[in-house]
Amino acid sequence: MTPSAFSTFAALLKSRSGLVIGPDKTYLLETRLAPILKREKLNDLTALAERLTKPGADNLARDVVEAMTTNESFFFRDDKPFTHFRTQALPRLLANRPANAAIRIWSAAASSGQEAYSLAMILADAKAQLAGRTVEIIGTDIARDQLNRAREGLYTQFEVQRGLPVQMLVKHFRKEDSNWRLSDTIRSMVRFKEFNLLSDPRTLGRFDVVFCRNVLIYFDPPTKARVLDGIAAQMPADGALYLGGAETVLGITGRFAPLQGERGVYGLTPARAAA
Ligand SMILES: C[S@@+](CC[C@H](N)C(=O)[O-])C[C@H]1O[C@@H](n2cnc3c(N)ncnc32)[C@H](O)[C@@H]1O
Repeated sequence: MTPSAFSTFAALLKSRSGLVIGPDKTYLLETRLAPILKREKLNDLTALAERLTKPGADNLARDVVEAMTTNESFFFRDDKPFTHFRTQALPRLLANRPANAAIRIWSAAASSGQEAYSLAMILADAKAQLAGRTVEIIGTDIARDQLNRAREGLYTQFEVQRGLPVQMLVKHFRKEDSNWRLSDTIRSMVRFKEFNLLSDPRTLGRFDVVFCRNVLIYFDPPTKARVLDGIAAQMPADGALYLGGAETVLGITGRFAPLQGERGVYGLTPARAAA
């Protein structure tokens, strides 16, 4: 691939999805874009880059962006954030909200749905505690193929073996050939929607809890700050933000601060919350 072709891909990915790639990631372009080269009958990445600079390449550009996303996810990933949500954030929100309140939760890089559905399973099991309050869970992602998978709620044996407690499997899934299908009850608790984190989150409304995990790692600091500040603006003073294990707000934005010294969980800073 020519240096100019690499620059075309790097600029496209950065502007459309926030993904930052250096020249050391050329192999990633080669492996992930190989199916597009084949489909478009193009010889190499330089030819694909040239095609992308021609008018009318918008759909192709979207496919390239989607192919370059990393969609790894699993149920109850890292465990602790979900335990924190169940034992601390949720009880606190319920105590602060009137009986007819709606609680809104956002899985902001939902991928194939495991994160949003893990939250739905927790909430289904906590139904008595909700005491009539409604809960809305929205899962968003830039990758349409992953969102379609998420809506299907069909997971392989391997996927349900990663992090999902066996009693949750038995309770909320049924076997379908060699795969596992989530119950309609859990699936109906989550709405999946295409949303680019570089867009304005005000279009999604306000959220009491935001899981934005394992996606900011792909962005540069100004993009991380923009995304985090956008989330902060959509959150009430007692909201909670969950980031991935390799992610932090520290040095990125002053709008969030770690909650109760808990790693990976953040609340609005008092100054921001009082505003
Ligand atoms: C590694 S997965 C994380 C999934 C889940 N949050 C978890 O922690 O298991 C990262 C997801 O972020 C999505 N993503 C990347 N850039 C995005 C953007 N600009 N807007 C929305 N989603 C994006 C990818 O499509 C991918 O599904």
